[in-house]
Amino acid sequence: MSERIRVWDVPTRVFHWSLVLSFCGAFLTAESERYRDIHVMLGYTVLGLIAFRLLWGFFGTRYARFSSFLFTSREVVTYVSALVKGEAKHYVGHNPAGSVAIWLLLFLAISSGVTGVLLFQDSGGEVVEELHEVLSFAMLAVVLVHVAGVAVSSIMHRENLVRAMITGSKEARPEEGVERSHAWLGVIMLLVVATFWAGYSAVNAMAPDEAVSQAEHHDDDDD
Ligand code: HEM
Repeated sequence: MSERIRVWDVPTRVFHWSLVLSFCGAFLTAESERYRDIHVMLGYTVLGLIAFRLLWGFFGTRYARFSSFLFTSREVVTYVSALVKGEAKHYVGHNPAGSVAIWLLLFLAISSGVTGVLLFQDSGGEVVEELHEVLSFAMLAVVLVHVAGVAVSSIMHRENLVRAMITGSKEARPEEGVERSHAWLGVIMLLVVATFWAGYSAVNAMAPDEAVSQAEHHDDDDD
């Protein structure tokens, strides 16, 4: 007997969709001097979200925990070969192939974020600049594979995985569900992200004026 049960808690969903927004925004603003502040702000947001996810991988609910999507390479190969034959086993949480993309995305988000911070602090040089670009494009490639994998898996198992990542629920046996949604934590996450964006934008908007007033201050000192 299956019914609609909760699989993804609220913090995992807030993490996912905030990451999607921040990554896409950072990618689209990467080449422009004009949007540099937005790019840097979104890069810091990605790093903050990943820091949260690393903790949530230990303290989160059942399917958010790393232990639920730590598969051996043998399990991944078995899953993929069954998938090709159209006989892949259904997983309530992340499946073995999907989990490979998720581990890669977490790793690439950390490494492209850290190289970005180094560049922003002028402590990188050309090698770090190259690396930042390569890692970000690698991340885009994995994102495309990830989205394709979500589509294939949704069709194979006749379940809408995107909807599940939005609503948090899936059709499964009642005992497979997670008990708590931790909605309060999701709300805190949204507040922290919104406050950070508002604060960062305000400080950057003030910066040129501050520079002017500081310059004037220096002029006064000279007099
Ligand atoms: C619009 C495009 C996207 C869609 C439709 C989408 C959809 C999904 C879905 C359905 C899952 C759950 C997979 C499962 O059932 O096992 C998932 C997980 C995940 N996705 Fe995406 N995704 C998108 C873009 C992205 C992007 C751009 C990133 C990274 C920058 C990303 C990173 C992740 C991560 C890290 C997880 C694991 C969630 C967790 O356990 O915390 N996704 N995605």
